[in-house]
Amino acid sequence: MTQKAFSILNELLTEQDSLKIMIVENDLIVDNNPLRDTGIHTANLIKRFKRRGISRIDFLKGVTFSEIKQFIVDLSETDKGLKTYPNIKTGVIDVRLGGLKVDADFDISNLPRFTSEQIETVKEVYHDISYFRRLNTAGLEEIVVNFIVTFRKAANILQLISPVRSYSEYTYTHATNVAVLSMFQAESLGVTDELLRDIGIAALLHDVGKLFISNEILEKNGPLEEDEWDEIRQHTLYGARYLTKADDLTRLAPIVALEHHLRYDSQGYPKLNITSKRQHICSQIVAISDFFDAMRSRRPYRRELETKEILSLMKTKAGTEFNPLLLDNFLRIMVLTLKEK
Ligand SMILES: [Fe+2]
Ligand SMILES: [Fe+2]
Repeated sequence: MTQKAFSILNELLTEQDSLKIMIVENDLIVDNNPLRDTGIHTANLIKRFKRRGISRIDFLKGVTFSEIKQFIVDLSETDKGLKTYPNIKTGVIDVRLGGLKVDADFDISNLPRFTSEQIETVKEVYHDISYFRRLNTAGLEEIVVNFIVTFRKAANILQLISPVRSYSEYTYTHATNVAVLSMFQAESLGVTDELLRDIGIAALLHDVGKLFISNEILEKNGPLEEDEWDEIRQHTLYGARYLTKADDLTRLAPIVALEHHLRYDSQGYPKLNITSKRQHICSQIVAISDFFDAMRSRRPYRRELETKEILSLMKTKAGTEFNPLLLDNFLRIMVLTLKEK
């Protein structure tokens, strides 16, 4: 039986670099295709994996017959720990909707992302604002439409969001990531066309006010003083003020710039002195993307967090910092994304 499995596997691996097997409930999913009614052998195999706490196995090109045999033998000896296998990787994908549990052990850092050209266009828009205070509204629209096309083609959204390489790149890679994540959320909620584009543009510009804050504070290597934090918090007001004056720009942009640090429970900043003021739903979407992306990058005062750590942390903020329904939706689409990878 193993010999037969091996020849099938080998054949598949001549055409692709890896074969991904996942266990979801009692189904075996091979490269995203569920196998059904696969008989007693498969059921036994699933049981063995489950006993080991394994729910994902990747077979890589170059896997040998003896490696697979050893792997299966080791699996059945429950008292022994699994060894490492050069071409077989095991991990956990645990997806439970409802009482959501997030647990994904796979490294997402080496996947394809946006082309450097796409990031470069965002950089240009930012430089225009920085040096000439000029906002290229038409350019923004183009960028956002381009993003939508890209993320519709992508198998998963985490492939698209870029890691930050240096601080100077932070501003526009963060802007790009927040825009992509916000449009992804909005689209999953049924938002289309103009509103989808407007959310993308507003998200792309949410931190534009930071361009009006001195680099000395923004790039300070070490903990910030209270008055420096106060100045950083002003980026919401600076951004909103700048964007209100821009022609042909969606009204959402200044709203989101103003409100993205205002929380769902109306705590946060800036203090608006309007008692009935609730955070706009689009600002709530952007706040979720903003938090997720910000936590992925290292800061002088904290390390970067892994995806699953961020998602669990976010869950603790439902109903206070984040709109619980939007957060539920975000966790759902992120977990599905992790699962699909
Ligand atoms: Fe911000
Ligand atoms: Fe931000």
